[in-house]
Amino acid sequence: MADKKQISVGKVADFPIGKFIIKDVDGREIGITQLKNGEFRAVRNVCPHKGAPICKGQICGTSLPSGVGELIYGRDGEVLACPWHGYEYDLLTGHELIQVGKPTKLLMYPTAVENGNVVVTL
Ligand code: FES
Repeated sequence: MADKKQISVGKVADFPIGKFIIKDVDGREIGITQLKNGEFRAVRNVCPHKGAPICKGQICGTSLPSGVGELIYGRDGEVLACPWHGYEYDLLTGHELIQVGKPTKLLMYPTAVENGNVVVTL
């Protein structure tokens, strides 16, 4: 098995909450963002559905289970909506929120903060 690479992608302050910063990381286009809980996410900029640049989608919330006639919005900042067909993905787990066909999942890379820098492991 090939060794994993740890690559510093910038300072913590370079990655605002609620917005992806898209970078070329060792030849892969990856969007990096900070969640409201302080964790970071590094997401391959390819939607698992049909290949859209998903990190150009909106970081938002979603409709929560609710009664007939109710619309309850929640999980703000934890969901990524694809810009092409609107599929929603959970930024905590990478899973698609509502499975339409076969299950799909975001490709996410582990992140860490070291000496004020965000480090992505490929
Ligand atoms: S390409 Fe992303 S939902 Fe279709």
